[in-house]
Amino acid sequence: MNEYIQKVNELKEQSNNEINAVNDAASLRSVQEKHLSKKSPLSGMMSLIKELTGDERIAFGQSMNDARKAVSECFASKEKAINDEIIKNKLEKEKIDITLPSVSYKMGGINPFYLIQDEMIDIFTSMGYQVVEGPDVESDYFNFERMNIPANHPAREMQDSFYITNSVLLRTHTSPAQAHAMDAAKGQPLKIICPGKCYRRDDDDATHSHQFGQIEGLVIDKGINLGNLKATLELFLRKMFGEKREVRFRSSYFPFTEPSVEVDISCMECHGKGCPICKGTGYIEILGAGMVHPHVLEMSGYDPKEYNGFAFGIGIERVAMLRYGIDDIRKFYQGDVRFIEQFTRK
Ligand code: DAH
Repeated sequence: MNEYIQKVNELKEQSNNEINAVNDAASLRSVQEKHLSKKSPLSGMMSLIKELTGDERIAFGQSMNDARKAVSECFASKEKAINDEIIKNKLEKEKIDITLPSVSYKMGGINPFYLIQDEMIDIFTSMGYQVVEGPDVESDYFNFERMNIPANHPAREMQDSFYITNSVLLRTHTSPAQAHAMDAAKGQPLKIICPGKCYRRDDDDATHSHQFGQIEGLVIDKGINLGNLKATLELFLRKMFGEKREVRFRSSYFPFTEPSVEVDISCMECHGKGCPICKGTGYIEILGAGMVHPHVLEMSGYDPKEYNGFAFGIGIERVAMLRYGIDDIRKFYQGDVRFIEQFTRK
């Protein structure tokens, strides 16, 4: 009987030695099959219990249990060691050296046209305006007729606008977006801005471009007056050009507004004294505006006795040129990175 127990202990030692000698997961699986399955030499020893009785049987059973437990524990600790090693190697391999210099990507800039357009939109939306857009390809009906522009107006000439057919053209201003918005509002109050591109058959030079951006504004409600327009534009212009700007309203003429005004701000260079930037006048013209013409309201389904409103149109490049000191409108369209990369969003 003692030899049996001795044999059990020998087999235990042998199994543990083989388990301990293993160093990888695949070999571990084969020693598991060899030493921990029912077919293992140690399990085979169990058949000998038949030959024993009484205390011997108990002692032998005990030694078998102890041996199996020892081999299982040996296996579990080896398994853990191998798994720990695998994880350690993986971490080692995937380690990132955060002290290495980074790859530097060349960052582009944002065209100042869009920086300014976004800033203008932000100011108006903060005052409760909704942003809507009109089409770039427009009918002469919307571009001119609905804006009360008479048949003999120079903009209606073929040589001044980009006509696609006799009655379809690239819009010459964002104002027709007003008419589309009023049609959609079906007689209800409106408070909108319409940013977009406009096109005119101008020869390009430092201050003219055949393509340019405008933001159109329109407010329609009961009891709107020139004072509302003045307060709105003063607030906008001071947010755009600084609190210290003087804002001046000059009477003017646009077919779609009555009365019409042109709005100037005091020159940011000389503060009204007169310098080359403001051509000695002390003021710089910024935008056109006015009270919506009753005929425009009527054509758009509003009763001018009940509803009235104001409108304004602001050139985006003009504002951007003044804000950034850009001296040539063509720079917005030439795609020169040396120009663009000077601008970025704050
Ligand atoms: N549409 C005019 C232009 O392109 C700008 C303008 C002036 C728009 C007065 C308006 C306005 O809405 O009230 O020159």
